[in-house]
Amino acid sequence: MKLALFASGNGSNFEAIQEAIVEGRLSAKIVLLVSDNPEAYAIKRAEKYGIPVFSFQPKTYENKAAFEKEIVAALKNAGVEFIVLAGYMRLIGPTLLHAYENRIVNIHPSLLPAFPGKDAIGQAWKAKVKVTGVTVHFVDEGMDTGPIIAQEAVTVKETDSLSSLTKAIQAVEHRLYPDTLAAIIAKYKQKGVRT
Ligand code: GAR
Repeated sequence: MKLALFASGNGSNFEAIQEAIVEGRLSAKIVLLVSDNPEAYAIKRAEKYGIPVFSFQPKTYENKAAFEKEIVAALKNAGVEFIVLAGYMRLIGPTLLHAYENRIVNIHPSLLPAFPGKDAIGQAWKAKVKVTGVTVHFVDEGMDTGPIIAQEAVTVKETDSLSSLTKAIQAVEHRLYPDTLAAIIAKYKQKGVRT
């Protein structure tokens, strides 16, 4: 399965997925990294693995449809079959959604529908919840909405700080995302969809 990863910042989930591929735990290939931030550290990570990058500055385009049209062209050119959002902090518009219907997934650091949007871990910390977690879901036009594929709970310990909770959630993300993608790809294979 040819994947495109989308990332706006650090790219630790992108690298965890690439490592799962390198180690043979995930039968896929990342053929393109898409970033809306030319300064993103994720781009450095992609260069390390020789993965091609399409980066752009949204504010230099007239609107979302204009840059998504270019993204779709780059995706088609690279033969991308499935899109994996990994810290891409931007809503997906109709241009991209229609081009990859039911083929876009996202990871979010909370048990959705709790704490959607930015800084989900900080939101959960402030709300003093005892349990939070990680969600992988299909993407629709909403903010962190769409059918849920996998969730894993993370208990907030008495001894936790925001920083230790963040680390615990990220550790779950780095395992759950590659595992969930492997399960999705296995399902496509069962159905006889070329991967
Ligand atoms: C991850 O925690 C991901 O779940 C979150 O951004 C972080 C990106 O980290 N995404 C969202 O909040 C989406 N609403 P990374 O760049 O190190 O992978």
